[in-house]
Amino acid sequence: MKRIYRNINLKNRNSFGVVQHAATLVEVESADDLRDYFLAEQPTKWYVLGGGNNILFTQDYDGVLISPRSERMELIAEDTEGITLRVDAGKVWDELVEWSVGEGLWGIENLSAIPSSVGAAPVQNIGAYGAEAKDAITAVEYFDTRTLNVVRLTREECHFAYRESIFKHELRGVAIILAVELRLHRAPRPNLGYGDVIREVEARGGATLRNIRDAIVAIRSSKLPDPKVLGNAGSFFKNPIVDAAVAERLLATYPDMPTYAVPGDASHVKLAAGWLIDRAGLKGYRDGKVGVHDRQALVLVNHGGATGEDVMRLAHKVCSEVRAKFSVEISPEVNVL
Ligand code: EPU
Repeated sequence: MKRIYRNINLKNRNSFGVVQHAATLVEVESADDLRDYFLAEQPTKWYVLGGGNNILFTQDYDGVLISPRSERMELIAEDTEGITLRVDAGKVWDELVEWSVGEGLWGIENLSAIPSSVGAAPVQNIGAYGAEAKDAITAVEYFDTRTLNVVRLTREECHFAYRESIFKHELRGVAIILAVELRLHRAPRPNLGYGDVIREVEARGGATLRNIRDAIVAIRSSKLPDPKVLGNAGSFFKNPIVDAAVAERLLATYPDMPTYAVPGDASHVKLAAGWLIDRAGLKGYRDGKVGVHDRQALVLVNHGGATGEDVMRLAHKVCSEVRAKFSVEISPEVNVL
């Protein structure tokens, strides 16, 4: 079953809450819906709109927005160690996390409360608190708009990296993700190494799945603005990955600067863009209807009535001030349309 809307206001379909319109929006339930639509309409300009949590519209969209709606979950394998699940793209990511915690299944609890649909999770390999979606994803199924066939990629074939996957590169403009397969485990495997997580978990009585989820929800909600109250798309920028020599030079001047190792790559280091923006003096900065969040400098917010252009003007200012102070380039994590 598909549903087609014309000239639709996107305000309630993007977490920044900006007003823009799309010429067409199509809600689809299945690969058959997509095949029918692509055969009949042969759209040349289209884009997948999941939950709208990682997108900034700077203008009206004159193409077709495609929104996968199916939320089906299917058990595809089960053994004493765990289960493999297939979950359709339209499922809300955090409903899946809540379900897994309720079932006593480990693997995605650190990714609690990330605003995302299941289909969006592999695109930027969502990550938080020392975990990434790629750690649990075993395969991704997509509709290929060139051949109109369904293709299944294994985890390795998805080329996952920090906020990266094949869906942002070779398959950009080609693939519409239909479903994700995940492996979840019965044996506890707490991952408490990041920041305040261990302290918050201990304060709740130890490393149970429920305590970890509660701790992470509490940490996130203390720093990240609720999009229903203050429009935003989470981290607006990626944490930059720089040459180790650049990090060393900066550490000589700023010994308290946070740095993170890049797994498998000793010649590069990841910096914290939030720290750089904060130290550039921009945390809490406001320019009319837009601003830098006052509790987490990585997040740009819509104080009400802002346009995508307003947000982009602020984003350019943030990048240029970070460049001027640290000679480091930061770039958006959010998809700008
Ligand atoms: N920091 C500051 N000032 C700030 C923000 C951060 O000094 O305003 C410092 C913190 O004190 C810390 C470091 O920068 O030493 C890193 O901050 P934090 O742990 O809050 O994480 P982040 O690097 O700012 C990343 C993800 C978040 C994720 C958190 C927790 C990216 C782009 N962002 O943020 O993801 O929740 O780690 O794991 O990688 C998202 O992608 O939308 C998102 C929220």
